[in-house]
Amino acid sequence: MNATVADYAQKWPEDALRLNVICPYYTMFPLDFPLSQLAAKPEATRVLDPFCGRGTTLYAARLAGLPSVGIDINPVAVAIAQAKITQVTSGAVVRLAKKILDGGLQGEVPEGEFWQWCYEGVTLREIVTLRTSLMTMNSPTAAMLRAVLLGILHGPRNKGLPSYLSNQMPRTYASKPAYAVKFWKTRAMEPVRIPALDVIARRADRLLKSTPTTQGGHVYHGDSVETLQGLRQKFDLVVTSPPYYGMRTYVPDQWLRSWFLSGLPDIPYNTTGQIARQPNQAAFVQALADVWAAVARRCHQGARLAIRFGAIPSARTDPEQMIISSILKADAGWDVKEVHAAGISPKRARQAEQFGKAGTAIDEIDVVAELAGPERR
Ligand SMILES: C[S@@+](CC[C@H](N)C(=O)[O-])C[C@H]1O[C@@H](n2cnc3c(N)ncnc32)[C@H](O)[C@@H]1O
Repeated sequence: MNATVADYAQKWPEDALRLNVICPYYTMFPLDFPLSQLAAKPEATRVLDPFCGRGTTLYAARLAGLPSVGIDINPVAVAIAQAKITQVTSGAVVRLAKKILDGGLQGEVPEGEFWQWCYEGVTLREIVTLRTSLMTMNSPTAAMLRAVLLGILHGPRNKGLPSYLSNQMPRTYASKPAYAVKFWKTRAMEPVRIPALDVIARRADRLLKSTPTTQGGHVYHGDSVETLQGLRQKFDLVVTSPPYYGMRTYVPDQWLRSWFLSGLPDIPYNTTGQIARQPNQAAFVQALADVWAAVARRCHQGARLAIRFGAIPSARTDPEQMIISSILKADAGWDVKEVHAAGISPKRARQAEQFGKAGTAIDEIDVVAELAGPERR
């Protein structure tokens, strides 16, 4: 890997990298990938990720001192990514949480066995109150508090001070209600009282101790092609990772976080607009081609486009061939310069492996293209 990547990592103490892990997200890529692309394009001035997920590219841009724009159709991704370009103190986050909680109970507490077993009663009322207030707030402090809450909403119960508000659950994805209730019941695992403010304070302190100065930017909630059509800025570096072919669980696996952001207390299987929901491979490739064409229109000549892509083994397809044909189909001036297997970062796990369920057999490749020809409109 490029030597300058190590320079970036060395420049920042571990504390400064914590905000990037505020909340896990499906097939997030490691920070090293966008950092290596920034190192390979030192003249970059503004960075784009049209499938930004939890905003890893945006955080790498912040570390490199650059503004960035992210787009995602999943509100959970947008809420996490927003935190990556936000600059607030942990004190401000804790004060806002306290103010909301001191204001008394707000919102309707969801009913049913799942909720009774997942959260202790007072803890659930605190979560509902914070959720209800945050739905109408859009200050930077509210954005950070929202992302902190998404990160502590569910996770394992530990022996020391609690780090999560829920009964035992994975932190990466939310268990389905029937499975979770059975799990807790058979183990007689009653939820315990966990004061939300304490967990928020500990988490915010840890994440925001030494964050690098943000260079600004924006995270848009919407379809990448439609959103790109409405943008004015131009970019010279694009680092992205579209949904992996065959992976359809981005939204349902995040159902509890989706609920927190305003959704119904149900698993959302209707994931309109998700590129991953294309009916077949040809439609998927075409949808990606449309994105690369829309990206080209928002890029300067010579721009670098770096894509990490994969396909789940059961999809029985070649991700390299799929991604290359999507770039060719775009017919937008992208010249493919590099194609190689995604490197394994020594410190951080591979993108797909971050999620045990995805399995280790996912073929991941990195493709780099450069925009040739005259500026496009
Ligand atoms: C592989 S994930 C990106 C992960 C990201 N690199 C990270 O580190 O978190 C792909 C993302 O594309 C988003 N997506 C799917 N269809 C989309 C569309 N039509 N427009 C914008 N984003 C979309 C999904 O919601 C998902 O967050």
